[in-house]
Amino acid sequence: SSKVTTRTLSRMKQKGEPIAMLTAYDYPSAKLAEAAGVDVILVGDSLGMVVLGYDSTVPVTLDDMTHHTKAVVRGAERAMVVADLPFLTAHLGKEEVLRAAGRLMQEGGAQGVKMEGGEAIVDAVRACTAAGIPVMGHLGLTPQSVHQLGGYRIQGKDAEMARRILREARMLEEAGIFALVLECVPEELAREITGAVSVPTIGIGAGRHCDGQVLVYHDVLQMASDIRPSFVKTYAEVGKQIVDALRRYVEDVRERRFPEEEHVFHSPEVQAALYGG
Ligand code: KIV
Ligand code: NA
Repeated sequence: SSKVTTRTLSRMKQKGEPIAMLTAYDYPSAKLAEAAGVDVILVGDSLGMVVLGYDSTVPVTLDDMTHHTKAVVRGAERAMVVADLPFLTAHLGKEEVLRAAGRLMQEGGAQGVKMEGGEAIVDAVRACTAAGIPVMGHLGLTPQSVHQLGGYRIQGKDAEMARRILREARMLEEAGIFALVLECVPEELAREITGAVSVPTIGIGAGRHCDGQVLVYHDVLQMASDIRPSFVKTYAEVGKQIVDALRRYVEDVRERRFPEEEHVFHSPEVQAALYGG
């Protein structure tokens, strides 16, 4: 089937067809997401936490994002690939944002970029959309602001904050975003925003009424961390399977059970020369 585009996603919202988005960070994870029929692959800056071992997304650089985006793009076919703009980039002025977003698309090969934030980044969003760069918004819990928010916690629980998020969703829509991630907000607010904006909403910890859902690859597969947020549904315990397999390998080496005859190369000529046939 043909490549997913911003138009595909818009049509899916109109028809009420849920959008399945998943993060991926390298060639193999992109290939597996593609094989599973994922519509949008997000090269999230969550890569800082799940593949680079940082304790937040703040240290992730544009070089990191570009490097991983290139690998993901090589593994994606039908899925649209969207890459996160790193910490602070959207606040550095129009030229800096365009340069960074341009690099993720031109060198990285992404079909769009995602930017965290509301009112403060509307001008940056507009600069990108005016330049032909598809922008995905991200409101609610914005992990790049974790140090300001004081932890990874639900946003928009009080009416005032909820109204602000709704207002910012409309501002981003007006600035030309093609989709909007809503992270860790009450289901009631996500439902309201989904009805209020024409672009698809994609939820993570945002309840059942968004136009799509997104989860982090390593969370879905339970591949790394012991921390499991309540909004994550785990579909496999791959991390455990990996450790079991690797442990058996280590034991086989120690017990000289590996390699076996089937894993070995022979040369009759070498055997003859060394041992006289
Ligand atoms: O970086 C990421 O994985 C994200 C999603 C959780 C939306 O931004
Ligand atoms: Na992110």
